[in-house]
Amino acid sequence: MSETKLEAWLDETRTFVPSAAFVAQANADASIYPEAAADPVAWWGRQARERLTWDVVPSQNLEWNSPQATWFADGTLNASVNCVDRHVAGGLGSRVAFHWVGDIDGEAVSITYEDLLARVSRAANALVELGVVAGDRVAIYMPMIPEAVVAMLACARLGAAHSVVFGGFAAEALADRIVDADCHFVITADGGFRRGVATPLKPAVDEALLSCPNVRKVLVVRRTGEKVSWDPQRDVWWHDIVERQSSTHQPESFPAEQVLYVMYTSGTTARPKGILHTTGGYLTQAATTHYYVFDVKPDRDVCWTSADIGWVTGHSYIVYGPLTNGVTQILFEGTPDSGGRDRWWRIIEQYGVTILYTAPTAIRTLMKWGEDIPANFDLSSLRLLGSVGEPINPEAWMWYREHVGGNACPVVDTWWQTETGGIMITPLPGVTATKPGAAMRPFPGISIDVVDGDGISVGNGEGGYLTVTAPWPGMTRGIYGDPERFAETYWTRFPGSYFAGDGAKRDLDGDLWLLGRVDDVMNISGHRLSTTEVEHALVGHPAVAEAAVVGASDETTGQAIVAFVTLKLSHLGDEADQAALVHELRAHVASVISPIARPRQIILTPELPKTRSGKIMRRLLRDVAEQRALGDVTTLTDPTVVAMIDRLMAAHSGDDA
Ligand code: WT7
Repeated sequence: MSETKLEAWLDETRTFVPSAAFVAQANADASIYPEAAADPVAWWGRQARERLTWDVVPSQNLEWNSPQATWFADGTLNASVNCVDRHVAGGLGSRVAFHWVGDIDGEAVSITYEDLLARVSRAANALVELGVVAGDRVAIYMPMIPEAVVAMLACARLGAAHSVVFGGFAAEALADRIVDADCHFVITADGGFRRGVATPLKPAVDEALLSCPNVRKVLVVRRTGEKVSWDPQRDVWWHDIVERQSSTHQPESFPAEQVLYVMYTSGTTARPKGILHTTGGYLTQAATTHYYVFDVKPDRDVCWTSADIGWVTGHSYIVYGPLTNGVTQILFEGTPDSGGRDRWWRIIEQYGVTILYTAPTAIRTLMKWGEDIPANFDLSSLRLLGSVGEPINPEAWMWYREHVGGNACPVVDTWWQTETGGIMITPLPGVTATKPGAAMRPFPGISIDVVDGDGISVGNGEGGYLTVTAPWPGMTRGIYGDPERFAETYWTRFPGSYFAGDGAKRDLDGDLWLLGRVDDVMNISGHRLSTTEVEHALVGHPAVAEAAVVGASDETTGQAIVAFVTLKLSHLGDEADQAALVHELRAHVASVISPIARPRQIILTPELPKTRSGKIMRRLLRDVAEQRALGDVTTLTDPTVVAMIDRLMAAHSGDDA
């Protein structure tokens, strides 16, 4: 985030105070902040006991051995019972848990909590038959269909950790994640639909499993009906094994610190990190934040979180938070323009969606398509709007408020990460004011600081590094198989505090504004990718000698990938060859990692700018990619390299768009 942009943000003096009508019905009032602050650990303890159903109610709250925390450790519970069984037992079986809406227009099914319980029980019984036991890891690689949620809950029910891998990842990325977590089971589908087109998934699993010898069984949902290759020893159709199971399953109780899931995310190295989450603390934070941040009334709200379950947003705010609270939700398989650019608004109108939670990228895309489209629909059911995943620019925030929320809904910009498990910084609707582009305040019971390079708190009107200064229930318990990397990555930069990797600013009122990553992590359409990961993919191509990747700001996707590549001598062809090669390299990255990692632009250059110690100067390359005046180049071995790259960039701008 550049300084000039920041100034523009802070010029925004607009502040929206909660309306009296909203305040009158809000789940929270102003007393929540001092109450939580008086004793945050005890406050979380009360949330845990109030919002969850325990088989053994914990007698303790936090045990803190920095950076290792346990929460509610002597309590026992079952996550799937908390999400499903207890609602049915409480008489809410006929409430809709999900209105599933398919990518293809007209395809939809509503699933009640009672249906969900039967589905989860059958799936759990099937997993038992396949040999899944508590403590196993199960990879889930699926489209947004009900079976994906059912599979997650079935794993949780058995005390097996799921590791959901976003369906957009390529075979190699999937294989890395399966191997790293040592998954012995994979749940997938033949494919999914995207804008009406069947897109295969099973072939990627087949390819990935060539390098995953420990996988014993693959459970496959038939979704598209496309032909797939089949290993009869290993592959099992979902409809063959799940449908014939009993619709009851006796759940076991697990300790609060039982691993609930692993979720891979990108760090600053090429190797993704398996972020571990456990059961009791994580569920407490997911449920509590969902309840207060979205002000949910489970008996009447229809919540829609537009994320994919392959990301943490889907885990916490489609599966665990909302289901723990027993709400009704939309589960949408498609993209915002599956079946037309008005698809979202049609869904909101048809189902009376009351709470919408999405990402700035989606808002900017909808904005680009024009406000005339939402204006054609009755969106008056909406009463609250949320944003997550990247900094939201004030223009997008205002558009969201005006053209989606009819100037009547609070907009909550929520900051958190895969590692935090749940929302950490957010306004509270009906309590705090909101400002276009600001995440405002730490959630009750969460301790945040913004510090300078020496770890000293900055004052109001100043920026610095975002840190969390006390443990919280949903915090990751570590990186799968690598406890040292956990301590090193998050807890050494500012000893005693968790370093998030983000920059933040306190405005003159002391409210928090998020400024984007301060490390080599990029945020492309709210998807987190590391520069090194993409560089690694590029140098894996036989033509590439060296690669440097930066995230350059982009109007729609927040950031976009720009890669600077030097070729091996043997591959220096003429211009036409080079254009073809650029095309091939972009496709190569997409096929190794995912289409979301496909560089927007690749600049072939004879050299990369390096310091005398041989480090590639990414900062300078980012300046070049964002067409900014160049900073200090005096530490470079050869300052002319940057000018040369600048010229190449200008000559090729728009090439790959
Ligand atoms: C990174 C975490 C949280 C679920 C989705 C992403 C960025 C997230 C915001 C926000 C500014 C945000 C941060 C963070 N981020 N929310 N409201 N304002 N930045 O989870 O993939 O773990 O990425 O997303 O840079 O570190 P993730």
